[in-house]
Amino acid sequence: MKTINKIGVFTSGGDSPGMNAAVRAVTRAAVNNDLKAVGIRFGYQGMIDGDFVDLGRTSVSNIIQRGGTILKSARSEEFRTPEGRKKAATNLAQNGIDALVAIGGDGTFKGASILFDEFQIPVIGVPGTIDNDLSGTDETIGYDTALNTALEAIDKIRDTADAHERLFLVEVMGRDAGFIALETGIACGAELSLLPETLTDIESIKDDLRDILKSHKRSTLIIVAEGDETGGAINLSEDLQSEFTKYDMRVCVLGHIQRGGSPTARDRVLASRLGVAAVQALLDGHVNVMVGVVNNNVKLTPLKSGFGKKKSIQLEMLDLLKQLT
Ligand code: F6P
Repeated sequence: MKTINKIGVFTSGGDSPGMNAAVRAVTRAAVNNDLKAVGIRFGYQGMIDGDFVDLGRTSVSNIIQRGGTILKSARSEEFRTPEGRKKAATNLAQNGIDALVAIGGDGTFKGASILFDEFQIPVIGVPGTIDNDLSGTDETIGYDTALNTALEAIDKIRDTADAHERLFLVEVMGRDAGFIALETGIACGAELSLLPETLTDIESIKDDLRDILKSHKRSTLIIVAEGDETGGAINLSEDLQSEFTKYDMRVCVLGHIQRGGSPTARDRVLASRLGVAAVQALLDGHVNVMVGVVNNNVKLTPLKSGFGKKKSIQLEMLDLLKQLT
């Protein structure tokens, strides 16, 4: 088993609220176990550029409540090339970084796994994405905050929708995953929620809308995941408006406000738990695994088993959605 003295921690891909809490937890756990911690700025690109910053107990003070990521995030084309990865591995070795904690989503873990395969750099993944689409954990860091941010906005939209008796199509994030659309839909009492995981049939949406109109509903909210096959809320509204000419329709795309903001208590606790678990996993000799929380217990899942395997939405939740309309 390789001795670990210095851990490099980085955030990569789309940021998510709670990433800072995870960086703090990794740093504090490292220090408390007599290890050094180094922050790698701008994810894999920073690894290639040697953009490293020493982290200590106090350098991560006062960040647990902040959204975004103090380590910044980036997508790196150069890291996709063997030359780029070689540069990254050389920089890590020259700076005495023996192990990595990668905070991010599927793409981040893929990169980490390649680094492990090519250069045997021990790596532990921490799931940070608002999409909640990683198997091996009940929730990802940032999902709860994004859900609450979206919900707060949608509740406000309901007020104005009700005042004017309008139909609103609200687009939430989720290029490939419908968790945000599903749970905001349930929580805000949406009349319909459209997810990438379920087949959206435009004719059946129109049938549903006719029924809704007949039932004397005064305002209607349709939540559309950005990755839904209708092409998103703007596309769908154009399709619907031509037929429902009497319905005063409006579209609201919530966009990146869902990625920002102060993390909820739940995300801060999850991030703290997973950051510490990641350091512990390294100390216990684990490599190339993701730490997650399943049924309130920390669980390790091989990083590779997650790639391309989408976390599925429970059928029970889809039924629930139908029962509530
Ligand atoms: O963080 C995940 C995610 O929010 C997806 O739902 C969304 O499609 C994507 O990021 C957008 O990311 P960016 O704006 O960085 O391209």
